[in-house]
Amino acid sequence: MTGGEADMRGLSGRMAIVTGGASGIGEGIALRLAEAGAHVAILDADEANAQRVEQAIADAGGTAHAEAADICDYDVVVRAVDRAEAALGPAYALVNCAGGGAIVPFLETDAAQRRKTVAVNLEGAANVTHAVLKGMAQRGEGRVIMISSEGARIGSSGQAVYCAAKAGMIALAKTLAREFARDGITFNSVAPGLTDTPMMAAAMAGDEEEAGRALLGKIARSIPLGRVGRPDDVAGIVAFLASDEAAYITGQVISVSGGASMIG
Ligand SMILES: NC(=O)c1ccc[n+]([C@@H]2O[C@H](COP(=O)([O-])OP(=O)(O)OC[C@H]3O[C@@H](n4cnc5c(N)ncnc54)[C@H](O)[C@@H]3O)[C@@H](O)[C@H]2O)c1
Repeated sequence: MTGGEADMRGLSGRMAIVTGGASGIGEGIALRLAEAGAHVAILDADEANAQRVEQAIADAGGTAHAEAADICDYDVVVRAVDRAEAALGPAYALVNCAGGGAIVPFLETDAAQRRKTVAVNLEGAANVTHAVLKGMAQRGEGRVIMISSEGARIGSSGQAVYCAAKAGMIALAKTLAREFARDGITFNSVAPGLTDTPMMAAAMAGDEEEAGRALLGKIARSIPLGRVGRPDDVAGIVAFLASDEAAYITGQVISVSGGASMIG
């Protein structure tokens, strides 16, 4: 697959790892990076869907490699990154997109749920970043992009620990942006607002899909751009941040929320 209209300077032939690339926003990002000519490694716990996305990229003429891995297990992550780099070459970009969480009032959560939410959304991103960073620093180049959440900046009822973990991703990126600036590595965060994905459908609907859909419709009316987000809305800014166009941007947070929040 060559870039064509989707071309972003500096992505063609470069290797990008996308965690959570088997579904929703991560899938959109994996497809977009491949369209721009990147060689994409999909790291996801969902092996069947990771392979489905790998196949979709290959069918479109691109290069991809699926690795089944739980990002919460550091040893598993290191082995998956090693295999992905053996298949596609050293990682130039890492997109930490795997994550998620249910909408549950804080007092109804238990300690195990809270630990899991932090593990999936914050520890997991730290694990994968740790596994790729040494190589990036040795090569003197790299791009790390966190898929955080607008809830990290403005809060979101029923998602206290999830939002705290997502805010942790932003702080992780800002701190590493300083530590690794002289190594040629940039770190930025993207904060999606409500985005229509399998996770969001499940979180909104619970057992009552119709009620969930009605709620989504109501929320859409309160968003300045008049609709909830789509995975593709997030993919463009990620491709930009991974490209040469963003060489002088680091430690930033960019909202993709249809204007639901306007943060200076
Ligand atoms: N959908 C939204 O409204 C929204 C809004 C803001 C932020 N986000 C964030 O965007 C990211 C993607 O969300 P989505 O809505 O596309 O969800 P999704 O459920 O459609 O996709 C998430 C993917 O992450 C993978 N994953 C989950 N835990 C994992 C683990 N421990 N190890 C490896 N892979 C794992 C899943 O298998 C899945 O393929 C998440 O980090 C989410 O928190 C989503």
